[in-house]
Amino acid sequence: MKNIALITGASSGLGKEFVRQIVQRGAPNEIWVIARRRERLEELVHAFPCTIVPIPLDLTEAASYTLLEERLQKEQPHIEYLVCAAGMGRIGLTEQTSAQDTDRMIELNCRALARVTQACLPYMHAGSKILEIASVAGFHPLPAFNLYAATKAFVLSYTKTLHFECRKKGIHVTAVCPYWVKDTEFIPTASTADNAGFRHFPFAQKTEDVVRRALDASENNVCVCTPGIVPTVDRVLAKTLPHGLMMRGLDIFRRL
Ligand SMILES: NC(=O)c1ccc[n+]([C@@H]2O[C@H](COP(=O)([O-])OP(=O)(O)OC[C@H]3O[C@@H](n4cnc5c(N)ncnc54)[C@H](OP(=O)(O)O)[C@@H]3O)[C@@H](O)[C@H]2O)c1
Repeated sequence: MKNIALITGASSGLGKEFVRQIVQRGAPNEIWVIARRRERLEELVHAFPCTIVPIPLDLTEAASYTLLEERLQKEQPHIEYLVCAAGMGRIGLTEQTSAQDTDRMIELNCRALARVTQACLPYMHAGSKILEIASVAGFHPLPAFNLYAATKAFVLSYTKTLHFECRKKGIHVTAVCPYWVKDTEFIPTASTADNAGFRHFPFAQKTEDVVRRALDASENNVCVCTPGIVPTVDRVLAKTLPHGLMMRGLDIFRRL
């Protein structure tokens, strides 16, 4: 039976860096990489000294889950790593967020993550690792990024319970909660004409550092990983300050 890693959102940013660092740590037999852009996934095949299996899927389409389930059923792999990194956001006040962006954020950040996780669980065993990419935005409401933050609160809650449920099976489950990460396509994709006042994204983190800390946390079965000082401070503030007060502060902070 072959051991695999399955990584969504592998065509860029954090997902792609997870591929690189999982290979570096001693890759399983195959890495299944999922995203929409086929050519980006195919580039990975030649970039790493292990078997990369491109699976181009649009995870906002329900048919994609059936395709994935059928493939898993056919190949019966042992899944060593599942990383759900596919995600998107759109900056803007709630009233400015289009219906299409609203649907996409919910479908990709919430439904796809839950459906892919549930499809993979039967193929995981003691020592397998699940990393669900949430965000510091999951710790508290976030003005001008409301729906995105709400989807990440979903991811955080979903992952905490999954961590609890999987303890007895020895499956490690970690919610990864980065602060802004600038060297990915996330901020350009999320940006709008006026960016609702978001300007410089101060204290942004680096992809390589976030992924290294996330994989270390997963080794130790940490339930919630804040990969760095800024997300850790954010998490502490979110636990200690009233969220009304915190939103006022964040409203000022985003214009810096
Ligand atoms: N960057 C940040 O500031 C930041 C901070 C906290 C949390 N995060 C979270 O980190 C995760 C990764 O983001 P990133 O920063 O690496 O951004 P990214 O570079 O934009 O990567 C997003 C990935 O999701 C894939 N994707 C988008 N729509 C998809 C769809 N409909 N079906 C399948 N795949 C889809 C993209 O590939 P295709 O376009 O090829 O489909 C891409 O591989 C996201 O969940 C994000 O919310 C990011």
